[in-house]
Amino acid sequence: MNARLLIVEDNADFVANLREILEDLGHQVRTASSCEAALERARGWVQVALVDLRLPDGDGTLLAERLKELEPDCEVVLLTGHASVESAAAAVRAGVWDYLIKPCATPDLLATVSKALRHVQSQSEKRELARRAQRAEKLAMVGTLTAGLSHEIRNPLNAAGLQLTVLERRVRKLEASLQQPLLEPLTLVRDEIRRLEHILRDFLQFARPAPLTLNPVSVSELLSRVTALMSQEAEKRGVTLSCEATDTGAVPGDGDQLRQVFMNLTLNALDAAGPGGRVAISTTVSSEWLHVCVDDSGKGVDPSMRDRLFEPFFTTKAQGSGLGLPISHGIVSQHGGRIELGRAPLGGARFEVVLPRR
Ligand SMILES: Nc1ncnc2c1ncn2[C@@H]1O[C@H](COP(=O)(O)OP(=O)(O)OP(=O)(O)O)[C@@H](O)[C@H]1O
Ligand SMILES: [Mg+2]
Repeated sequence: MNARLLIVEDNADFVANLREILEDLGHQVRTASSCEAALERARGWVQVALVDLRLPDGDGTLLAERLKELEPDCEVVLLTGHASVESAAAAVRAGVWDYLIKPCATPDLLATVSKALRHVQSQSEKRELARRAQRAEKLAMVGTLTAGLSHEIRNPLNAAGLQLTVLERRVRKLEASLQQPLLEPLTLVRDEIRRLEHILRDFLQFARPAPLTLNPVSVSELLSRVTALMSQEAEKRGVTLSCEATDTGAVPGDGDQLRQVFMNLTLNALDAAGPGGRVAISTTVSSEWLHVCVDDSGKGVDPSMRDRLFEPFFTTKAQGSGLGLPISHGIVSQHGGRIELGRAPLGGARFEVVLPRR
């Protein structure tokens, strides 16, 4: 069990010993000799903290409380030279996981750490399951709503499109000088109708995903095609788009749906990169998995948005529907794969699609 452990203690020999033992067991260890340093090193990282009760700049119990505020998922084990009823009661109030009296035997200490760790891990699994259940429920509800609404909108939209064609035909029969001022607004309306049709198609696909038709798909060939298809779009935006797909061999997949995934990710990357930016598509293969990275040189994804990216209708774009990523996520999951978010070597975001090769 590899864990992230923080030792907060000002006795350098004790820290060095403990660190060696814990690192030998495969754990990652950070150390701090003051409350302030402890809080700084714990942020976004710690799973279990071993905290001395007496620290040069404060009290271990108070530090435990602040650590729990900062990282609610972590557990704190307090170490003390002399136990008293008051300090034990304060430790319980601070939400401390356990309380050890120094010098304590190494096996006892390790047993306490691994128990705390198991607790941390089972709590975070529980939270992840609850989050997934909540998301699935929301998706199902949104799906049903969207499907109903999309059908309702589609009929009048079709009718409007047909009437527009009739109107266009009549205008074209008019004198040339009269045509131009009438055709211009008609073209604008036609574009808007196309845009609505596009959004509706996305909505419906999201609400009622098409079943997969699995065939051997050469992902490298697919990516070359996607790059060719998107090159005009890239040029229009002043973005350099490149694709370095090594021969990936074939994976079982639905070519049309996978193409849509890579188009969605590439379009997002082009948006993020902006004029003068870069987007790079690349692949790597391992024995079981195929990885496709879509990297951009944009600003990256704000940490506060990470959790919301795959939520339906989450968008930061004036013209976005916020369905590109949820649809892509659905398709990749149906393939037994996943989409991971990382930092791109180009400075912006990396969206990595991981697909099983068999
Ligand atoms: N490469 C990226 N870099 C930074 N932010 C991104 C990137 N890709 C997606 N995002 C963020 O995630 C949001 C959701 O993306 P998603 O593709 O689902 O919808 P969208 O692009 O806004 O609209 P559309 O439905 O037209 O795709 C975007 O609005 C954007 O804020
Ligand atoms: Mg998008």
